[in-house]
Amino acid sequence: MTESSAPSPGPIVLWLSSRYENLELGQAVLEYVCRLRGIENDAEHWIGVALREALANAIKHGNRQDPSRRVMLSLGGSANDLEIVVGDEGEGFETAAVADPLAPENQMKTSGRGIFYMKTFMDDVTFSRDERGGTVLTMRKHIGSDQKKGVQTR
Ligand SMILES: Nc1ncnc2c1ncn2[C@@H]1O[C@H](COP(=O)(O)OP(=O)(O)O)[C@@H](O)[C@H]1O
Ligand SMILES: [Mg+2]
Repeated sequence: MTESSAPSPGPIVLWLSSRYENLELGQAVLEYVCRLRGIENDAEHWIGVALREALANAIKHGNRQDPSRRVMLSLGGSANDLEIVVGDEGEGFETAAVADPLAPENQMKTSGRGIFYMKTFMDDVTFSRDERGGTVLTMRKHIGSDQKKGVQTR
């Protein structure tokens, strides 16, 4: 069986308690999925940055680091389209009210770039709310053949 016809697993769904240590666990599962799908290291690196920012927001802003509140992480999609969903048990927020990190008055700030990074590295980023009001973040990344291991681009 060739790499491209290998079945894609998942979705893999994890429920994590709201501790920063669990960022590593999310990262480890992402590595596993990327290895299985043949996603090359550079793409994996940038998807990993987006995932860390998403999980950190769910833990910090959504669940306010309350370890009894859980963060849902789902890694799914198809062989050529990775879908990451991160859900939290917070109160949600208005995306329109989030400050633009590229505005001159914000450029010296060290925070406020997480959502910007996610939108930069991923192809599609959408926020919605679940029935309890918590944030559901869905990110997609198209995995082209040039982002698969073993493919010669020149
Ligand atoms: N899951 C979430 N629940 C509630 N608020 C959120 C969530 N994710 C992001 N936010 C809000 O959006 C803002 C911008 O997030 P981000 O770009 O990651 O910057 P930072 O986390 O450094 O503040 C946060 O400060 C917070 O107010
Ligand atoms: Mg953040």
